[in-house]
Amino acid sequence: MLLCFPCQKLTHVYYIDKVGYSFPSDEGWPFAKYLGACGRMVAVNYVGEELWSYFNAPWEKRVDLAWQLMEIAEQLTNNDFEFALYLLDVSFDNFAVGPRDGKVIIVDAENVLVADKRLIRQNKPENWDVWYESKFDDCDKEACLSFSKEILCARVTVDHNYYAICQNLLSRHATWRGTSGGLLHDPPAEIAKEGRLGALLDECANPKKRYGRFQAAKELREYLAQLSNNFDAKAERSVRTLGVTVLAGRAFGGLAPSVPALRSLGWVQKGPVALGGLQRDRI
Ligand SMILES: Nc1ncnc2c1ncn2[C@@H]1O[C@H](COP(=O)(O)OP(=O)(O)O)[C@@H](O)[C@H]1O
Ligand SMILES: [Mg+2]
Repeated sequence: MLLCFPCQKLTHVYYIDKVGYSFPSDEGWPFAKYLGACGRMVAVNYVGEELWSYFNAPWEKRVDLAWQLMEIAEQLTNNDFEFALYLLDVSFDNFAVGPRDGKVIIVDAENVLVADKRLIRQNKPENWDVWYESKFDDCDKEACLSFSKEILCARVTVDHNYYAICQNLLSRHATWRGTSGGLLHDPPAEIAKEGRLGALLDECANPKKRYGRFQAAKELREYLAQLSNNFDAKAERSVRTLGVTVLAGRAFGGLAPSVPALRSLGWVQKGPVALGGLQRDRI
């Protein structure tokens, strides 16, 4: 986990590897359950097989996984806590799927950049309120992403997570271990013929319109939900979002959950000195 300290120095990004501690899975965050740590070692729950092993799963399963991935992108971007968590390493082996509940979980949370949007609003760095559109990266290697940590740490409206999920996992631009076509490869004929899915995925990965990715991502979430045609499962999984809401409620009810604690401890505001204190406290 990487932390921005926008009020101190925009150029500084700090590293802590316990995202699952600050953003606990049992409170709805899509990270492996944090069990404990010893020095730099962190123990988390085993989730299940990599997302990669579902690359050739039946279409319905892949649609459900794709829908969950877009929901994760949304949750990490917009949540009640006003922390944005940007995924900096998005590939088929950094997500796993629970065998029983079928839930998608991020298993490599080292490369998550945490930006405090409330602080950005307070400190108003240059262009803080200009919507930021990530640049499509057509590189030759697998799972590339283009981003600027300084910009991600200094804007409140950012399409990075939609970009990362669409470009590297879902769209035809996703390449991984010699495959192409992405998780939503080979759709049924009627969906391919309709063309909407392909168009939304393209616009989400490599938008042609200004701010097109924000809109495409929203429509893609809706379309995938509709395609999965499984509203019961959808309602059940929205517990993910509910968990966050409950946590917000509890924060005001006197318990000290870990995310608001990030702020109340003051280490986000205070920077590296306080961060060192926090690491010592929690290891
Ligand atoms: N909590 C977990 N549950 C299931 N598999 C995991 C978990 N953590 C890691 N893995 C597996 O181990 C692999 C390597 O872990 P990862 O944290 O991504 O390390 P690296 O930094 O080397 O990429 C992952 O790609 C995944 O297959
Ligand atoms: Mg990894």
